[in-house]
Amino acid sequence: MKVIVTKDYEEASQKAAEIMLDVIKNKPNANLGLATGSTPIRLYELMREDHKANGTSYKDIKSFNLDEYYGLAQDHPQSYYYFMCHQLFNELDIDKNNINVPKGKGSIEEVCDEYNALLAKNPRDIQLLGIGSNGHVGFNEPGTSFDSVTHYIALKQSTIEDNAKLFFNGDLSAVPTHAITMGISNIMEAKKVLLIATGERKAKAVKGLVEGPVTEDLPASILQKHEDAIIIVDEAAASLL
Ligand code: GLP
Repeated sequence: MKVIVTKDYEEASQKAAEIMLDVIKNKPNANLGLATGSTPIRLYELMREDHKANGTSYKDIKSFNLDEYYGLAQDHPQSYYYFMCHQLFNELDIDKNNINVPKGKGSIEEVCDEYNALLAKNPRDIQLLGIGSNGHVGFNEPGTSFDSVTHYIALKQSTIEDNAKLFFNGDLSAVPTHAITMGISNIMEAKKVLLIATGERKAKAVKGLVEGPVTEDLPASILQKHEDAIIIVDEAAASLL
């Protein structure tokens, strides 16, 4: 696992963009595993700016997002599908048919089976990750099996509270209580994993991720076992290392 410490959020995003764009430029038909949350917002902006300025093409790129709230349709303004379109895809030349986010509606079993089959057919060249303050990746909350594949999960109260800020104007009662998420083993299959963590609120989880035991109690710690995992942290998130 390679840990890169940057001065701040901006430098972390610039470094992440360098790595992401390197994958895309070297493989114009790459499969990208993407993430939501506030952390990748600047990275996505840098990718849009690069597309505009340098014409980097996404026409043969396929994207596979980590997770989706259960109960929200794709066009719901708080869905992760909607978030991805507005933060990234709408300004790229990506084929809408190549955008994949787990469905937040329908039979749970069918949604999970369909996504697992899709992932099996499309190995990811890079998987982008943020990290929850409790060490979750995607929506794999503490206690999730390292062998898990795409599944339905109940969100921890702390995750609901953390995410309310970004997605529901702080209205806790409006935040879905469940989600569909890629499992840990799906995440580990990616050739390269790029995790970004910034801000003091992430320092404890980052310490566990980098220095702690590999344990299902802190799902991100499994990345210690990945052959090509890059962790980009700003000084605040690295403050306990
Ligand atoms: C959600 C997402 C995760 C993300 C996390 C952190 O739980 N499912 O993929 O890493 O939020 O969000 P933020 O980047 O806003 O701290």
